[in-house]
Amino acid sequence: MKNIVVFASGSGSNFQSIIDAIQTGKLHARITGLISNKEGIKALERASNNSIPTAILSVKDFNSIEEYSNTLLEQLFEWDADIIVLAGFLRKIPSSVIQAYQNRILNIHPSLLPKYGGKGFYGLNVHKAVIESGDTVSGCTIHLVSEKYDEGPILDQIEVPVLDNDTPEELAARILEKEHELYPIVISDYLKTLN
Ligand code: GAR
Repeated sequence: MKNIVVFASGSGSNFQSIIDAIQTGKLHARITGLISNKEGIKALERASNNSIPTAILSVKDFNSIEEYSNTLLEQLFEWDADIIVLAGFLRKIPSSVIQAYQNRILNIHPSLLPKYGGKGFYGLNVHKAVIESGDTVSGCTIHLVSEKYDEGPILDQIEVPVLDNDTPEELAARILEKEHELYPIVISDYLKTLN
């Protein structure tokens, strides 16, 4: 069975969807740890409710990016990570981690990449931009993480209509529902391709 280490910065509803998929037998894997970059977030509570070990690692608590990266790598090694799943992790993954886990880091993004990706496009900012531009379709994307932010190879996407008078919050909620469906399926399919 493969080991997943999840990274999250917020509510962790995608993290929960992965936990649920494992518990219901839809995803054959184990989550060996959760890395968060801040205290007090709901994702940590979800980990604790499911006896998943956690580490809070924030770049600002380290003297250098090297020290931060080395600590991340040590933690990933300790948890024997086969893949890393970013579930609403709003910080850049250091290059040395991307290099050590090439093609082994998955991310979910709440737009149809390459649209509305890159710096500044996260959370509600994405949905505000979509609505302001008048797009009638948005969605979510799951992709492999490369050194170019939000530009790694796309594994799958789901389209979601943008409705007249949608608020960014309404659109976000509708897309989030699809994220919860798609992420566990894509993780499961991807794990099957690894030896
Ligand atoms: C999700 O919508 C995810 O796609 C987005 O953050 C939200 C986290 O929700 N990720 C990004 O914007 C990454 N650039 P969650 O904490 O409830 O899973």
